[in-house]
Amino acid sequence: MSKTGYSVKTIEWQGDEVVMIDQRLLPLDEKYIHHQTWQEVANSIKTMVIRGAPAIGVAAAMGMALAAMQSPADTYAELKKDLDAAARGLFETRPTAYNLGWALEQQAQIYEKEGDPGQIRRRLKQRSQEILEEDIAMCVAMGEHGAPLFPQGARILTHCNAGALATAGYGTALGVIRSLFKRDKNIMVYVDETRPFLQGARLTAWELKQEGIPYCLITDNMAGYFFKEGEIDAVVVGSDRIAANGDVANKIGTYTVSVLAKVHNVPFYVAAPTSTVDMSLPDGNHIPIEERDPAEVTHFQGSRCATTGTPVCNPAFDVTPHENVTAIITEAGVHREPYRESLAAAKKGK
Ligand code: MRU
Repeated sequence: MSKTGYSVKTIEWQGDEVVMIDQRLLPLDEKYIHHQTWQEVANSIKTMVIRGAPAIGVAAAMGMALAAMQSPADTYAELKKDLDAAARGLFETRPTAYNLGWALEQQAQIYEKEGDPGQIRRRLKQRSQEILEEDIAMCVAMGEHGAPLFPQGARILTHCNAGALATAGYGTALGVIRSLFKRDKNIMVYVDETRPFLQGARLTAWELKQEGIPYCLITDNMAGYFFKEGEIDAVVVGSDRIAANGDVANKIGTYTVSVLAKVHNVPFYVAAPTSTVDMSLPDGNHIPIEERDPAEVTHFQGSRCATTGTPVCNPAFDVTPHENVTAIITEAGVHREPYRESLAAAKKGK
């Protein structure tokens, strides 16, 4: 699989197949999975072969294109029926990532209008590729807007993986870090390991190593120590969904980091494309939070670490209130309180 020039490719078309790097195996193994059906794509989203809200959006858009190719329909009505079924199946995979519904909506705009099935098939594939390219462009723009926010030689904490792997390429939070590193080689990144799925330890550390960006991996419960020691100058994270008032859903543990940042007077930045902003939700209380398999908590890399029958809670995301967010960086610029107006304007600009 080719590289984008920015980083490894997360997902791409190879002929009429959708190819994804299997993120469950990283960093130990670099394997690629080929998808020929939307059901295979849905399964890969659900099982975290591909993850990260923007990457999930691209996968869903490509899944819809596959659904159109799979469908034997000759008429518009038959094709629409098959596409509606695929959209429902893809939508159910991961409830928190807003980019998923956004991408399905983009594709719906193509096939909701009655038209020639062959033309719809071509347009769905073409639009999925455009969504991929737009996502990379948005990440690069976020990097340019975000980089000037950081002091010289900044020591930056990030949580989860909001890098090239979580997007079509370059990354949101990690994109900002990439852009900053181009300007300032003295930065340092503290990487939360991000239990239970270890996106920080497995994916963010891997990406930073490839880019030659200095980093230090810490366990999630060490963050408070480093804030207290005055070792962290700024936080930057990605997001799965941002409500209209600027409340931010992101990987579980992000809220804790935001509280630490607030107590220690450290700026807390969120980098996300406007396709992550859900203006239909007034605040973060309405964001659906995915509950994942208890085995992610009771087991570590396939080995049991809690006694059999242990009750488990495993919310995959939490919501950081907008009061804890210093600024939200989108492709449109840097947004500060009050977020509602500025995020609405950014969305309209799209
Ligand atoms: O469960 P995941 O790995 O899909 O969660 C990913 C995150 O929480 C990311 O921080 C978020 O999607 C932003 S990615 C650019």
